[in-house]
Amino acid sequence: MANLQRLLPIFAAVCLLAGAAIAADVEFQVEGRVYCDNCRAGFITNITEYIEGATVRLQCTHFPDDKVEHSVEAVTGAGGYYTIVVPNDHEEEVCYVQLVKSPRADCGEIGDVEGEKARILLTENSGQADHRRYANSLGFLKDTALPVCPELLKAYALDEEY
Ligand SMILES: *[C@@H]1O[C@H](CO)[C@@H](O)[C@H](O)[C@H]1NC(C)=O
Repeated sequence: MANLQRLLPIFAAVCLLAGAAIAADVEFQVEGRVYCDNCRAGFITNITEYIEGATVRLQCTHFPDDKVEHSVEAVTGAGGYYTIVVPNDHEEEVCYVQLVKSPRADCGEIGDVEGEKARILLTENSGQADHRRYANSLGFLKDTALPVCPELLKAYALDEEY
């Protein structure tokens, strides 16, 4: 019994140290969604479909030499959602999520505009208190736009005028 009492302060000290180590090891949770851009419009419409089983890659590159510091892939689940856990603070790097592979033969083209990459800030010094980060949705292009698209996009363009 006496032995146990002597060990308790040591045990408590070890716990404190472990707790401090965990607190220093920040971890971010990046969430996003992958869709099929079936109007080849570059944005989500009311007939957009989300893609399950799509592969995305999160990558952080160091500025200015573009050295890859962190790279991890994930596959979307139901509703096209994915979550990627990224350890450590990446303030000194440029981090983004990009499309890699679609499970759909008719909707697997990756566009080459800047919008195909979703930038995310993976640092605690970004003014965001919690560690969850939402990446912009990324869309694979459908091989041919659906017949309804011209009319649909006209309606969206009109909406923007108001
Ligand atoms: C999508 O929006 C367009 C234009 O507002 C509308 O005409 C169409 O009925 C909508 N389609 C669906 C599936 O909600």
